[in-house]
This record gives sequence, structure tokens and C-alpha cells, in this order.
Amino acid sequence: MLRIQLKNFIILLTIGVLFSTCNAPKNEIKVYNKGLHIVPLPLEITENEGVFSLNAKTKIIAQSSDGLDRVTTFFNKRMATVFGKKLAIATDAPSKNYIQFSLDESCDQGVEGYCLSVTPDGVNVKSVSPRGLYYGMQTLLQLLPAEVESKSKVAGIDWDIPSVEIMDKPRFKWRGMHLDVCRHFLSVDFIKKQLDVMALYKLNTFHWHLTEDQGWRIEIKKYPKLTEIGSIRLDEGKEYGGYYTQEEIKEVVAYAAERFIDVVPEIELPGHSLAALTGYPALSCAGGPFEVRNVWGVEPDIFCAGQEETFGFLEDVIDEVTQLFPYEYFHIGGDEAPKDRWKTCSKCQRRIKQEGLADEHELQSYFIKRAETILQKRNKKLIGWDEILEGGLAPTAAVMSWRGEKGGIEAAEQGHDVVMTPGNWVYLDHYQGSSKVEPVAIGGYTTLEESYGYEPIPNELEPEKAKHILGTQGNVWTEYMYTPEIAEYRIYPRIIALAEVGWTDKNRKDFTGFLARMNNQFVRLDHHNINYHVPLPEGPSNNVAFLDSIALTFTTTRPVDMIYTTDGSEPGEGSSAYTGPLSFSDHATLKIRSVLATGKMSEVRTINIRKEIPHPGLTVDNAKPGLKLSRKEGAFYSVASLGVTDSWEEKTLSDLKEVLGMFDYKEPGAAIFSGYLEITDEAVYEFSTDLDQFFIGGRKLIDNDGEVKRYSRNDASIALGKGLHPIRIVFLNNVYGGWPQIWNGFRISYRKQGAEKFKLVPVERFKH
Ligand code: ACM
Ligand code: ZN
Repeated sequence: MLRIQLKNFIILLTIGVLFSTCNAPKNEIKVYNKGLHIVPLPLEITENEGVFSLNAKTKIIAQSSDGLDRVTTFFNKRMATVFGKKLAIATDAPSKNYIQFSLDESCDQGVEGYCLSVTPDGVNVKSVSPRGLYYGMQTLLQLLPAEVESKSKVAGIDWDIPSVEIMDKPRFKWRGMHLDVCRHFLSVDFIKKQLDVMALYKLNTFHWHLTEDQGWRIEIKKYPKLTEIGSIRLDEGKEYGGYYTQEEIKEVVAYAAERFIDVVPEIELPGHSLAALTGYPALSCAGGPFEVRNVWGVEPDIFCAGQEETFGFLEDVIDEVTQLFPYEYFHIGGDEAPKDRWKTCSKCQRRIKQEGLADEHELQSYFIKRAETILQKRNKKLIGWDEILEGGLAPTAAVMSWRGEKGGIEAAEQGHDVVMTPGNWVYLDHYQGSSKVEPVAIGGYTTLEESYGYEPIPNELEPEKAKHILGTQGNVWTEYMYTPEIAEYRIYPRIIALAEVGWTDKNRKDFTGFLARMNNQFVRLDHHNINYHVPLPEGPSNNVAFLDSIALTFTTTRPVDMIYTTDGSEPGEGSSAYTGPLSFSDHATLKIRSVLATGKMSEVRTINIRKEIPHPGLTVDNAKPGLKLSRKEGAFYSVASLGVTDSWEEKTLSDLKEVLGMFDYKEPGAAIFSGYLEITDEAVYEFSTDLDQFFIGGRKLIDNDGEVKRYSRNDASIALGKGLHPIRIVFLNNVYGGWPQIWNGFRISYRKQGAEKFKLVPVERFKH
């Protein structure tokens, strides 16, 4: 008996010495860490029995070389962070407890592909190139618990890697993200953070949109006014700006290179160039003076195509920029260049005659070909938005198809390379949920599922031309990304869906599987402190009136749980789960939010629910059509700043459309309209408007003050009896958040409770 126990003890001791972690009790595996959850999904995975247990004694095995060191250094930095200690690096593999990275021709997966083998003894990552090894290493990190992305040492976790054999390579060569840093400036740190996450998902191209009508954001030594003047605009009366020095650009490019991400700069020409023209007005057709544009939209003043000075300037700029970006492609924009100025410019017209061009579209083509020549001298390939097809494509140009897929198909049919970025799928400035609950966006609607479903090779394309489709990317235009947090909210998780579109074999894509794998990825994003989108409960507005009782139904854009409270507390762990319509027969405050499988919660929506008796309508003798208006000149950005109103001019409107003709956003002012709204049927009415404030029956029903007046999220309902109801409308004619209030038109809409569509309140219902 004693001898057996002793023998067992010796065996245990021996095992303990051999596998120093095996005798430690196993930590419980978090649900999101169970199973495999690699994104983008690899080409071939075989799962085997057992795990490789990584520990502080694990050795990294690699032959030192420039390329390999980039991979091992990256991996070891991660290990140092989560273990608190670097792993030893050696050149010869022991028989156990190693992770070997090797350049190996036997892994036949191309320059971005890799072969990854995990057994309980060790890990082998092979590729023909350092880039492929880097992707193999990223897959290895994804096989480890999500906490491997932690920013600090992690305790209480077993760093087990499941035994697998993976053979993997990307479907497309161009897997990118575009970022507009012009409409809103984003810091170097923000960009590095995005590059970190792009690398996790094997995205390999960062398209950096550096110049715009609203700001020039890259230092050009020969033309200091580009940034001194062109990087600053007046936003709500205050200076807004920012730019990158060439040193900062180099820092970002180097940071990207460590992550095997190529950086493609974009210098916009001939349009979207007002910031440059503000610094150098002589390069325009009309000569200026100009101001850096402070509203969104497309600017008519563009580079003059008739003067040689323009091309001299562009050559100098391109010369400096190409030296900062050691990559194959250079993006010259080319989109949305209105031809108004060229049509009336004698220099441009002379150029058209001299060059035998048919029209201004051919002049655009001439312009792009000049840029092509400048780039060819510097061994760069030109890429531009699909408008560069107008008037004939430059011979070596590649096209980025954004106005749908038509331009991309046409270019590929002509034998040009194409990156597919059609708005409907890859424009990450679009809404990804209802505009009634999401932060204001430019418009459009692209859910995660739609982004995921994008197929970059159009059916219409002749199969032998498919090789010209280089890939796809997410485009991030930042007009409505007022903070870095909102930018991330728009980018994620859609960019990760696009990473899978760009990498994974078409036949292996599966949205349900993707969502399941994303649970683990969300934890990784949490470690990177990424403010990704969590679908919000959608349906009712935040102010709901009812007569007897009401049932409120909520939905989400993809299957996630919702939790709620009605006692005023924040919904959290232990709150009621939403399982179907919520019924109310008295006043209530409903707080509702979504919750992901990882426990991560959305913002809370607070819904004020009021039982009402209809406000009685008034009878007013001699009520006439139209509203009374008082107005005042001046720049007002909040209702409070209006102050007293006694000096106001008064006017009676007979048609609300008159309002549009009375204001121009370049001459700011404010107006208050007052009178009555006539209601012909007693009911609960829901109102919607993008105007600043709407009062009815003495109640401030809608208040958009302090928000961008677009896609108002402040719809509200009220019970109204038959007759006239006093109203008051506050309208600040200003540019707020780049959006001129007058661009909304002058609109108030309503619908009876239960009706599907809002309708404009007919003008004859307004009385005074
Ligand atoms: C673009 O969205 N104007 C390329
Ligand atoms: Zn001109």
C-alpha cells in the first residue's frame, strides 16, 4: 500500500518536472474562449485532440533575419505584456514546448499565406514570406484566449492552444480601410490604434485620405500655406484644424510596416481641393480669395487645368509625398470635380482647344493623365475614384469603384485593376441601425450582415477579367464622426466583416458562423478599448403618449438580447429580459438596452411613456392660414443664446415654402414661428422635425437644441383633440456640425399612432 502510494508520488513528481504547468489546477475556460473563433475564417482547418500549453518556459524558435525578426519581435512583445516576461528565442527547436516560425518553401500558400500546425509538443508556423508568417502569427494569437490582447499582465488563465492544422491564404490582395482625416482630424495615436486592430484581422492596406475642401492635413515643406492656412476652418465661429508633420507621417508609416500594412496616401485632384486653393488661390480658375469650406458637400472651386503652375505645384507636392510612402500605389482622388469653373475659365478653354479635347470631361482625363506621368516618373501606380473613367481612363490607372460597381466593371473589362468599394456595402459612414436611435450619420443604411454579404466580383464581369479585381476596403468618411469614439462606433464591427470578405474563400463565408466567432473577437476589441457598435433596441421613439394602454415592440438589427427596467434604474445584470411586446396602462419610464453574449451592453435608451387625455382643441375666431414669424440676424448656435426677442421683425407667412427663400446659411439668423396647428381627428399624433424646437399645446414636444439638426432622434407623441392647438417653432439658421440647417427644408411631419409613414403637416393646417 505504502509502496504504491510512493510510486504514484514519484510518477507525479516526474510529470510535474517534465511539464511544469501540468500539475497546476486548470482555470475555468471562459465561454467565449471555448472552441475556435478565427476571423477571418481560414481556408482549411483540421482540429485534432489535445492542446499545446504555452508557458513562461516556451521557447520561440526562429532564424534571425530582418523579416522574421519583425514577426518574432511582435509576437514576443505580446507575450511579454500578458506574461510579464519575454519568451526565450533560440534557433534550434527542442522536442517540446516551442513555437517555431520558419520561412519554408514547402508551405505552398503564396506570399500572404501560411501553414500552421499545433500539437501538444509544439507549434510550427511556416510561410514563404515574413508577411505570411505574420498572418500565421495573428492566427496563432486568435487560437489563444482573447485575453492575449490585454494591455497588461493577465493572471488566472491557461494559455492553451488547441491542436490544429491550418492552411490559409487570402482570396484578395487588397484588403483595406480608408480613413478621411480631413472632415474631422484624427490623431496619430488614433490611427495607430486602428492599425493595431486592422492587423488582427489581416487587413493590409491603409488608404489615408489626406486632403479635402475642408482641410489639408499633410505638411508639404515647399508649400507651407497648405497647412498654415489650409488645415484650419471656421466651425461654429471657432477655429478647427490639425495636420501631420512629415515626421508624424513617417512614424505612422513605420508603425504600419511593423504590422505589414501598406499605406496609400490620397491627394485629391482636381476637385475637393478648396483647402489647397485657400492657401494658393492662384491655382484656381477664378483666383479667389477663398475660405476653407466649413460645410459638407462638394465644392465648385477646383484646381485650374489651364495653367502650367497647377501641374508644377502638383509635381512638387507629389514629389514630397511619394518620398514618405514607400508603396506601390498613390491615390489621386479624382471624384466629384464639378466642371462649372472650367466651363467659364479662358485658360481651361484654351487648354481644351490646344489639346483637341472634346469637352471638360476630356479635360478631366487630361488632368489625370498628367498626374499619371508625374507618378510614373517616381515608379508609382495611380489609383483614383471611378470618375477618372470620364473622358477616357489614363493607360495605367487603377480604379476604385464607389458609385456602385459599374465603374469597376467597366475598368476591369478594359483590363485595368480595380478595388471594389461600392457605397451600399462598404461605406462605413452609413447608418447600421435606425436613424431614429443611432447618432447622426450622413445617411445610407448598411447593416453588419450587408457588409458581410458583399461579393467583390460582380456577376456581370466576364470571368477572365475577375483577376483585375484586387479586392475591397471599408471607406470611412468623417463628416459626421465628431469624435474618435463615433468614428470607431461606425467602423466596428463592419470593417471586420469586410476583412472576412477580403480574405475568406467565398464558399466558406457564413454570417451566423461569423457572428458566433465575433463573440470572442469583441473581447479582443474590448482589450483594445474600441468603441464598437452594439445594436440598439429599435422601434418606439423616446417620448410615447397613449390613451388607454399601449404595447411597445422592440427589435435589433441582428439577434442580440435586450434587458430593461421600469423603476428608473439602469438595466444591468439581473434586469428583466425582453421577450416580447411590453404593455403599459399608466405613466412609466422604460430603460432598455441590448447586451451581447460577452456581457457588453449598448447605450441605454430611456423612454418616457405617458397616459394622456387629449389636449382640447381651441376655437379661434378669424384664424387665417399661415404662421406669424419673428426673425433676427446673427449667429446663434443654441436656443439660449437667442436672448430677448423684442427687437424682432414680424412677418406673416401664407406658405411654409416661403421660409426657404428667406434664408441663406451664409447669412445666419434665427426665427420663431407661432400660431396654431389645426387637428381634424382626435388621436395620438407622433411628430418629427429637424427644426430646433417644436412646441404644441404649451409643451416643448421636440427639442433638437445642441444636436446636429439632421435625422432627429427626438420624435415625440401627444394626444390631441379636434380644433386648434397653439404652436411655436424655433429655427436657428446656422451651420451646425457642418450641416446648414436650411438644407433640411422647413418641415414638420406627423403620423397618427399606429400609422406606418410620417407625412408632412399640410400647410393649410397652420393658422394664426
Ligand atoms: C467619394 O465617396 N466621394 C469617393
Ligand atoms: Zn481654369
